Amino acid sequence: MNGHPLLEARSLTVRFGGLVAVDAVSAAFAPAELVGIIGPNGAGKTTFFNALSGVQAATGGALFAQGQCLTGAPAHRYARHGIARSFQTPRVFGELSVAANVGFGLQFAGRGRPASALLKDETSILQLIGLPAQATLPAAAVTPSQQRLLEIGMALATRPKLLLLDEVAAGLTEAEVEAMAQLIRRLRDELDLTVIWIEHAVTTLLRHVERVLVLHQGRKIADGTPSEVVRNPEVVEAYLGDEMADE
Ligand SMILES: Nc1ncnc2c1ncn2[C@@H]1O[C@H](COP(=O)(O)OP(=O)(O)OP(=O)(O)O)[C@@H](O)[C@H]1O
Ligand SMILES: [Mg+2]
Repeated sequence: MNGHPLLEARSLTVRFGGLVAVDAVSAAFAPAELVGIIGPNGAGKTTFFNALSGVQAATGGALFAQGQCLTGAPAHRYARHGIARSFQTPRVFGELSVAANVGFGLQFAGRGRPASALLKDETSILQLIGLPAQATLPAAAVTPSQQRLLEIGMALATRPKLLLLDEVAAGLTEAEVEAMAQLIRRLRDELDLTVIWIEHAVTTLLRHVERVLVLHQGRKIADGTPSEVVRNPEVVEAYLGDEMADE
């Protein structure tokens, strides 16, 4: 590590016409940090991820990976810096087997990055994400929650340093959400991955992350430990009051 954050956004901004979806957000992410992002629907969480992963060009501000400027770089340079992500709607190859989907990710595995034994091949990755029994099934034939796990497996196969997870626990049962949280913790602990995790299941999220950013109308309104953020009146007003009442 060269002393720089793994990834740093400085006043990152994404505009869609007159709408400012991400409004001058600054945030730095350290190696092996597990950070949550919360905020109401339309707050700009997914758009922020899209800008962090090069899927969406920022219209303002700057992005640095270990001190190197990534602003305006093509998406493959983001991958070369070890940035991998899941999508809010899982993107798997339905006709291909579960194992072949992971194999697809392995083709993009970062060369020169030492592979943990946990990410050695299809078998070890399916073991890690808990899908060894589904290896030969077409991806379209497994349950939605298994497809979410598979998408994480595909991202892990690229041997990332930073994993961006967008609502991977959406639509899961309470037990599945808890299992997902345990898996995410394990990825951080055993693979030294930096994980940034967007989720509306705030009570679970806040129990597992060590830091949380709150977005509201494109702006970052809080960035702190879960206990700091739940006591922040602006956060309670903008989001947590309703969300925690629902849960
Ligand atoms: N490609 C796009 N073109 C125009 N507007 C967009 C586009 N993508 C997102 N938006 C708008 O930007 C704002 C932020 O959307 P975004 O999807 O980032 O929110 P989010 O926080 O991920 O919400 P959710 O919790 O519902 O997933 C919304 O007003 C959305 O309608
Ligand atoms: Mg979203």
